[in-house]
Amino acid sequence: MGYEDMWAPGRTGAPADLRPDIPHPARMYDYYLGGKDNFPADRAAAEKALAANPEFRSTARANRGFLTRAVRCLAELGIDQFLDVGTGIPTVGNTHEIARAATPNARVVYVDNDPIVLSHARALMAGAGHGRTTVIQADLRRPDPLLDAVRAVDLLDFSRPVGLVLAAVLHFLRDEDEPYRAVATLLDALPSGSHLVLSHGTADFIPPAVRDRVTGVYDKATAPLVGRSRAEVHAFFDGLDLLDPGVVTVPLWRPDTPPATDAERVSMYGAVARKP
Ligand SMILES: C[S@@+](CC[C@H](N)C(=O)[O-])C[C@H]1O[C@@H](n2cnc3c(N)ncnc32)[C@H](O)[C@@H]1O
Repeated sequence: MGYEDMWAPGRTGAPADLRPDIPHPARMYDYYLGGKDNFPADRAAAEKALAANPEFRSTARANRGFLTRAVRCLAELGIDQFLDVGTGIPTVGNTHEIARAATPNARVVYVDNDPIVLSHARALMAGAGHGRTTVIQADLRRPDPLLDAVRAVDLLDFSRPVGLVLAAVLHFLRDEDEPYRAVATLLDALPSGSHLVLSHGTADFIPPAVRDRVTGVYDKATAPLVGRSRAEVHAFFDGLDLLDPGVVTVPLWRPDTPPATDAERVSMYGAVARKP
């Protein structure tokens, strides 16, 4: 498949260039998780970030665990359609697989702004989607065209509750990208009973010197890394009803097994909330 084929009708803005020479967060994250879908520039940048903060790898895994438990929770609540923005390169336990374990007919629209994510996700969907899963290229920084692109593929029924998944993506939006407006715009399009699954990196537990080294690595990548405090992450849920246990570090969100002793200091917050 050529890259020109990866974009769904209604995609937003200019297509992102693959640019293997510039580190990209999706491919760096793939490297942290032990994946193979990354280029030398991604690996070099990821190694620099890991040298500054070796916990990046375990934080990425903890985030995947949160995503699994949160999507499973929504599926068990009866949510059978998901909008997953900032999908990432497919790995073990993708949103449609988790949801379908509880709700076999679950529909999922994946959205990412990285062509390599689309390439891999489309290949996976070809075997597993069969019209109930699709992937489109759009940018969270432009939520209105993103919604237009989602509506254009006509897979989700916006009159019924949707699970909106924003896992480990909002920390790639600077304040001037208006991340709170982006979340509010997406939620405004969804009916009462919809749920938000959100996780977000934080520098609350790391020394400023480590934070500065890590952000220095991402400043040379295609997207910056903007850690936000617990209060700032909490603010994404304004107007929603948080499910227990509220905003916590990701290993502490409804763990399946007893969390490790350092779970309270993992550099990623997560929560799930219902739109009233
Ligand atoms: C760290 S990965 C998270 C993947 C997955 N959601 C998870 O939690 O495991 C972040 C993803 O967000 C995507 N991303 C970053 N900025 C984005 C933007 N402005 N719009 C859409 N996707 C974006 C990246 O391409 C990458 O695939």
